[in-house]
Amino acid sequence: MSTQFDVAVIGAGAAGMMCAAVAGQRGRKVVLIDHAGRLAEKIRISGGGRCNFTNRDAGPQNFLSDNPHFCKSALSRYTARDFIDLVRRHRIAFHEKHKGQLFCDDTAEDIIAMLKAECEQGNVAWRMPCKVVDIGKSGEAFRIDTEAGEILAKSVVIASGGLSIPKIGATDFAYRIARQFDLRLVEPRPALVPLTFDAQAWQAFVPLAGIALEVAIETGEKKTRGHFLEDLLFTHRGLSGPAVLQISSYWQPGTPLTINLAPQEDLAELLLQAKAGSKKNLANTLAQWLPARLAESWLQVQGMQGDARLADLPDKPLRQLGESLNRWKIVPAGTEGYKKAEVTRGGVDTRELSQQSMMASKVPGLYFIGEAVDVTGWLGGYNFQWAWSSGVAAGQAA
Ligand code: FDA
Repeated sequence: MSTQFDVAVIGAGAAGMMCAAVAGQRGRKVVLIDHAGRLAEKIRISGGGRCNFTNRDAGPQNFLSDNPHFCKSALSRYTARDFIDLVRRHRIAFHEKHKGQLFCDDTAEDIIAMLKAECEQGNVAWRMPCKVVDIGKSGEAFRIDTEAGEILAKSVVIASGGLSIPKIGATDFAYRIARQFDLRLVEPRPALVPLTFDAQAWQAFVPLAGIALEVAIETGEKKTRGHFLEDLLFTHRGLSGPAVLQISSYWQPGTPLTINLAPQEDLAELLLQAKAGSKKNLANTLAQWLPARLAESWLQVQGMQGDARLADLPDKPLRQLGESLNRWKIVPAGTEGYKKAEVTRGGVDTRELSQQSMMASKVPGLYFIGEAVDVTGWLGGYNFQWAWSSGVAAGQAA
């Protein structure tokens, strides 16, 4: 005996719940299927437990994709403002942290409860925990074989996310289904992920551990260039903090990052200007523009004496010192992988999907939304906004 639905959504995470609620509230008969024992674990752990649920300024410029214009339609039809209105209607208290990032005042559970309530309003049926064994076509409809029996649905929405954090249920399900239906993929890789550094090469920088400062960080060229002004943290093993997470999404193995440790200053110029008539030593002079410990340790790394009088030093090493701080080039060894990545870059190639509905052009009735798709947001609430916007787009169409 099979159960019939208009829409089957696979994956009850951020995008899947949003999509199911919207389709259900349109009067579609919807079933939401997830293999996990606990609902929406990624929302629960997001934003340090407070869920950075959107960004006030979210726009297409904050997303990476092989097809950068694709996300425009969904993002403009369901905006950060629309999600904020929904959060307000559910009386969830929130605050802005910085750079437009909005967090729950209390807990990410509030967002999960809100999405659950929206699904209830749409009479969404649940199959959870429930494994999907196979998806096939049965005439015009899709046949979904699950542990809990067979489901027939006119439309199937794949919302099973990417590969990041396998420990809490991430799988390659979306990619397998895409391949099964002959849809192209953009190679998935970990993004918003800590980068690793060669232990031996890093030795020289170990004394900098604990120093945090705002830097300009960049990598890549032209179309693939990423550039951020963000906080950087030196650790015993390498670099960390938002600056590194942001740039990791753009980084290609084997290529350098360029870091400006004093983005507001031209240090070579300032050092040469300061030299005239100065009685100060080099370390104290640098400490005007950099954290004192960074200045001292950097001089050690460069093999320069911090207590040397500035006025006694030739121009050339001063210029080189300034440039080394304004344009520090470093090549990461790799990333910490999906175990630590907040998201997955790549995924279902958007050239296979309609930007209005998220439906696969070659397979009428089959939709892909959320992180499964090759649209990846910056750090700061953008990835959830994509989950909401793409979820609504499919929910309105399926
Ligand atoms: P999501 O991963 O949320 O949901 C997929 C669902 O599919 C899961 O419930 C999973 O169990 C289910 N599933 C997988 N395979 C299946 C299968 N074979 N069968 C059935 N079900 C299956 N973003 C942001 O904007 N702000 C933030 O604060 C954070 N913070 C954050 C912290 C951490 C630690 C991580 C790992 C990630 C974030 N993110 C974030 C990213 C954000 O969590 C992510 O982009 C969205 O959850 C993606 O939503 P989806 O619905 O696409 O996938």
